[in-house]
Amino acid sequence: MKLFDVYPINEITITKARGSYVWDDKGDQYLDLYGGHAVISIGHNHPHWVERIEDQLEKIAFYSNSIRIPLQQQLAEKLGKISGKEDYQLFLCNSGAEANENALKLASFHNGRKKVVAFTKSFHGRTSLAVAATDNKNLVAPVNETGNVMFLPFNDEEALVECFKTNGSEISSVIIEGIQGVGGINVADDSFLKKIRSLCDEYGAVYIADSVQCGYGRTGKFFSHDFAGVNADIYTMAKGMGNGFPVAGIIVAPNIKPRHFILGTTFGGNHLACVAALAVLEVIEKEKLMGNAVMIGKYLREELSAIPELKNVRGRGLMIGFDTPEELKDLKKNLLTNHKIFTGEAKPNVIRLLPSLALKKKDAEQFIESLKEEIHQILSPTSVNLT
Ligand SMILES: Cc1ncc(COP(=O)(O)O)c(C=O)c1O
Repeated sequence: MKLFDVYPINEITITKARGSYVWDDKGDQYLDLYGGHAVISIGHNHPHWVERIEDQLEKIAFYSNSIRIPLQQQLAEKLGKISGKEDYQLFLCNSGAEANENALKLASFHNGRKKVVAFTKSFHGRTSLAVAATDNKNLVAPVNETGNVMFLPFNDEEALVECFKTNGSEISSVIIEGIQGVGGINVADDSFLKKIRSLCDEYGAVYIADSVQCGYGRTGKFFSHDFAGVNADIYTMAKGMGNGFPVAGIIVAPNIKPRHFILGTTFGGNHLACVAALAVLEVIEKEKLMGNAVMIGKYLREELSAIPELKNVRGRGLMIGFDTPEELKDLKKNLLTNHKIFTGEAKPNVIRLLPSLALKKKDAEQFIESLKEEIHQILSPTSVNLT
């Protein structure tokens, strides 16, 4: 059997990983500033995470939600404490798309409405409604097409107010990333998120904060939406939550009440997923990784802003993007091939940095040095490389 070919891939086989490094089958070491798409939060194979999972494996790996799983309550309490949302309610699932799908569905159950407001350049996942709320026609199959999603320009308060004036009584939810990831690292304005909050309050709509990529401490606050100083009704999370173990969830404000069977999952919240997620929170807290994300992120943004060839350096904490001009279109590829550094991208010309929150200063320095060297090499290819 062949693999179903849906991914353009790098021909690299990774066989070992630790911290911010991975090694391929030839023994070559790579610096990972991509984290497998923002997934590696506390560092590859963190010893505490490995130990927690191994210990749990010896006991029980999985049972479904038909029994009480005390680890889920432990996770809810820890998550409430670290995120400052102690009065919220946790529902666990398995992926970012599933988290958003559940959030949109729950909002609709809650207020009995159908319309969803989403924004240009959004990415919310590939399941039915999540993909319908994703601003990329190529990903939406005919069966996912719905008249229920309205796309508005990102950060445009006037358009938002107008939309609510016209459709307010029909709008079930507004879904927005605190920082758009796939869309190219676009930070939602604090005033825009405040406006979403106040309009949702006024019209009885649900504010859904998609924190799948920008959440879990990556920006220095647990949820990047929190920079705006207002709460969302539902936060969705995945990626960094398990540091590579598939686990996701939504947290739900206390005014949204649960009913049996409106949401459900076979695998969500299993024993192994819970310990992986607990281990991540324990390490984030113990190693003060949100503070590290702020510090290393600031260093990186300052250094990147001082490189004249790179434009529009942006982001928060360790979620950083910058534009590359046409002459540097091979920069990302060359960083990987010539310097063994993984970075991310967003079409057409954005480089995205999504490293582990434990990224060390020396690794950030190495990246900046390699980046400058590669830019110099691309722009003056005949010069001799002395390093
Ligand atoms: C903001 C955002 N939401 C949702 C998703 C979907 O997550 P998953 O791939 O785990 O379904 C992603 C994935 O990149 C994302 O970046």
